[in-house]
Amino acid sequence: MGEETLVAAAGPSARAPVGQPRRAAQPIRQVSTDQHDRAATDIGELDRVLGGGLVPGSVVLLGGEPGAGKSTLLLQAADAFAAGGRTVLYMSAEESPGQVRLRAQRLGALSDRVLLAGDAEVPAILALVQSHAPDVLIVDSIQTVRIPEVSGSAGSVTQVRESAAAIVAAAKEHGIATVLVGHVTKDGQLAGPRVLEHLVDAVCDIEGDRHHALRLLRATKNRFGPVGEVGCFEMTGKGLVGVEDAGRLFMGDTPPGTTGVAVTITLEGRRPLACEVQALVAKSVLTNPRRVASGLDAQRLNLLVAVLESRSDVTVANCDVYASSVGGVRLTEPAVDLALCTAIASARRDVPVLPGRIVLGEVGLAGELRLVAQTQRRLAEAARLGFTSAVVPAAYDGPAHGLQLHRARVLSGALDLALSMVSLVGV
Ligand code: TYD
Ligand code: MG
Repeated sequence: MGEETLVAAAGPSARAPVGQPRRAAQPIRQVSTDQHDRAATDIGELDRVLGGGLVPGSVVLLGGEPGAGKSTLLLQAADAFAAGGRTVLYMSAEESPGQVRLRAQRLGALSDRVLLAGDAEVPAILALVQSHAPDVLIVDSIQTVRIPEVSGSAGSVTQVRESAAAIVAAAKEHGIATVLVGHVTKDGQLAGPRVLEHLVDAVCDIEGDRHHALRLLRATKNRFGPVGEVGCFEMTGKGLVGVEDAGRLFMGDTPPGTTGVAVTITLEGRRPLACEVQALVAKSVLTNPRRVASGLDAQRLNLLVAVLESRSDVTVANCDVYASSVGGVRLTEPAVDLALCTAIASARRDVPVLPGRIVLGEVGLAGELRLVAQTQRRLAEAARLGFTSAVVPAAYDGPAHGLQLHRARVLSGALDLALSMVSLVGV
């Protein structure tokens, strides 16, 4: 069956007719780059994620849960673009222009070069684009705009896709740097942003818990810059404020000697961040004890619990295990493995990690401790932040950066080192 289809598709009737090229192919060195004239925002943390600013004609999808701060960040960016002499058209299909103005007033972002309109129909938006010829277009949000000729209500997959395609085409045609806002629910389910990822040039997400002030801006796709780069912000009364030195932002206020917490250094993009992992282990009354992860990968938690069970003397089979990151940051790197195992072991044994000690390493199924990428940079950051010792995989042979290093080959050894109250042999 499959073979027949293939044969048919390869037949003469399937061949596309030969046409005229619009432009001759060029040697690669002669092709002009699209790097020129990026619109930097002067919001350092945003430019860092965008790779230097918005490229004319490029389209960025800015995703995040409601309340994450998408509109706030974009209003601030619009004001910064305007300050740089660019015209911004801000289409607010979600909040009324009056509401947006009030917010802009609070943010001190009232520039004459920022044009505000409340149209929700794509043809009207495109007409405004034509008449105002802005340098930057912001559509807030793609789930609230629609094309009348297309069936379905705003927010349906078809509407979202068709509306975005029309706006993207206009952005490319007129060379307008465009940002589309997309709402994402906690599990990334909502129709919308995910179906757009291939249509746009860059995808950024704002992460962070609305109950915490911290926000992380992360690029998950970027045709014009680095991927995985992270910007740190704090939500204040005056909008989002960039945090250049994230330092200890992702650490809790747990007093020294608290059990069930472990600190590691994750690498977000090129940025090392000290992060705390917390765990609570409680006797379960359920046949299938709970494994609850917040800010951590739930599957990874299950796997590491299994490794702990079979490769160390930490038994949690009859216990509920809750694990969480601090500050609403999402930790998905394997480098967090040892911190997660250590937090669980610390909770279970009721022994704290020695103050000033970090743990760093990936845990394998055989219970072995693996080296993680750029261990040296992470240790340098730990030293900068005032940590004094680290448990690292035995394979690490780089500099200690003034830290007392405790090397372990396997998980059980690492846990003993992490939870020992005495300082063992240093390096
Ligand atoms: P918002 O930008 O409306 O989020 P989104 O567009 O992603 O849905 O941000 C809303 C939250 O930010 C809201 O909970 C209020 C808070 N906020 C501040 O704390 N300070 C401010 O200056 C602003 C504008 C908003
Ligand atoms: Mg909004």
